[in-house]
Formats: sequence, structure tokens, C-alpha cells
Amino acid sequence: MRVLRDRPQRRSRSTQRLAPGRMPKYILLIGGPGAGKGTQAQVLREKLGLPQVASGDLFRDNLKRETPLGRQAKQYMDRGELVPDDVTVAMIRERLRQPDAARGAVLDGFPRTIPQAQALDALLAEFGGRVDVVLYVQVDEAVLLERLAGRWVCRGPQQHTYHMLFNPPRVPGVCDIDGTALYQRDDDTAEVQARRIRVFFEQTSPLIDFYRQRGDLVEINGEQPISAVAADLLAAVEGMTAV
Ligand code: AP5
Ligand code: MG
Repeated sequence: MRVLRDRPQRRSRSTQRLAPGRMPKYILLIGGPGAGKGTQAQVLREKLGLPQVASGDLFRDNLKRETPLGRQAKQYMDRGELVPDDVTVAMIRERLRQPDAARGAVLDGFPRTIPQAQALDALLAEFGGRVDVVLYVQVDEAVLLERLAGRWVCRGPQQHTYHMLFNPPRVPGVCDIDGTALYQRDDDTAEVQARRIRVFFEQTSPLIDFYRQRGDLVEINGEQPISAVAADLLAAVEGMTAV
């Protein structure tokens, strides 16, 4: 794990802001498609008791329910492109206003552009919070493709994630946690995967510098086993938000 900031200064600022029970805590996960954002957000959710707010999962849930938002998002998701910022920000705004997010959230896949990051700052300020730590899960392109090729996701509301080789379910085709059937995502075709990876490096990677310059970024080696990545992420969160 490589920490990209002057720790003592950052920690003292966090200490002021995160008095127990007073300030909501917002943790961001950034990484390419297949980097393990969803896998790790589920671990952080369990360990920290904060909800996972995943923009991709929210879009897919809307798609399943055939809402106007889902229909609007589908045309972008099918091409592996980003859904427009105004639509995405409005959806996240509504999600973060739900009571279960009053203490904060683990944000998985949002923001992905500088305007989204700026909108998030404004939104969190309304809630009396701010971005506490940005965890960049770094994985090279070849490994991203290998991860996406073997991924299976469950149909349950939490969209638990498996991998044929690296994290197989106990019973093939069935979620260990909620027993729902596993499926492969529509945007996991080779063509759309390649487009999503390109979009990440072109449109989302500027965010890494944006947060690095603010001193909020922690870079994590995502090419380790799932449990080792999780341990590094938890250590980073504890380092950034300890009171
Ligand atoms: P989204 O659903 O967020 O897709 P993504 O960013 O392409 O990322 P993925 O969900 O594919 O990967 P992940 O990092 O969660 O990896 P996972 O944990 O599953 O977004 C989909 C679409 O929605 C976008 O293309 C866009 O259209 C739209 N969208 C979403 N957010 C948006 C936004 N903010 N703005 C605009 N549009 C937005 O892991 C992958 C696989 O690897 C799994 O099989 C897992 O078991 C395995 N694995 C995980 N970690 C490891 C490890 N350490 N070792 C071995 N295997 C591992
Ligand atoms: Mg995901």
C-alpha cells in the first residue's frame, strides 16, 4: 500500500471532523472495470457498518425495474460509456438522502468525472460531511480483462460477486449468501469491456490527480488476493479516519 500524502497533517484534520457519532463518513472507491470495487465495497460495508452506494448497481436496479432512469442509463451502459453527469448526480443525491446513509457511505464507482466530484463535495457539505478518503484500487489492463471475463454476479439486491477461478461460489451458478442465481452482466462482452476500460483511463483517471492534489488519495495494489487487498483498504481507512 502506498500512501500519497503527508499523513500527520491529514490525520489531524480528520480527527477534528470525525468525532464519534457526529460526522458522517464517506469513503470512495476508484478503480478500472473489474478492479474489485464491488468486491471490496462489500467487505468495507460489513466491517464499517456503512451502506455500499454503487452507481452501476443503482443503474442496474433501475434497469431491472424498467424505470425511466433505467431506460435512459441503458443506452450508455450498453455501449460502455458514462451516463451523463446530471442524471448520475441526481440518482446519487437521492440515494445518499436515505436514512441508512445518514452516518455515511462507501461509494463504489461514483464519482467518475471531475464535475461529479465537485457535485459530490457540494452534496456532502449539505450533510455536514466531506470526502474522508479516496481509495484507488490499482490494477493493470490485462488483469482487468481476466477479472471481467470470469465474473458472475447474483440476482439478489446486493449483487454479490464471484469469479470462476479466483472466488468461485460453493455451488456453481448459485449465490452463497442469498441463494439467487448467478448471471454474467450484459456489459461484460469483450467489446464493451474494452470500451469501459478505455473510458476509465480517458475520463476517470483525471480524478486520481484531482484527489491526490487534495491529499485525499490512498493508492492500493489491487493485484493481490482479495483478502490482502481488503486488509490494505481497511488499514488505509483506519489511518485516514482514526479518532
Ligand atoms: P459499474 O457497474 O460500476 O462497472 P465498472 O466500473 O465497469 O466496474 P465493475 O463493476 O465491472 O468492476 P468492479 O471494480 O466492481 O469489480 P468486481 O468487484 O466486480 O458501472 C457500469 C456502467 O454504469 C458504466 O459503464 C457506466 O455506463 C455506468 N456508470 C456507473 N457509474 C457511473 C458514474 N459514476 N458516472 C457515469 N456512469 C456510470 O470484480 C471483478 C471480478 O474480479 C469479480 O469476478 C471478482 O470476483 C474478481 N476479483 C475482485 N477482486 C479480485 C482480486 N483481488 N483477485 C482476484 N479476483 C478478484
Ligand atoms: Mg462493480
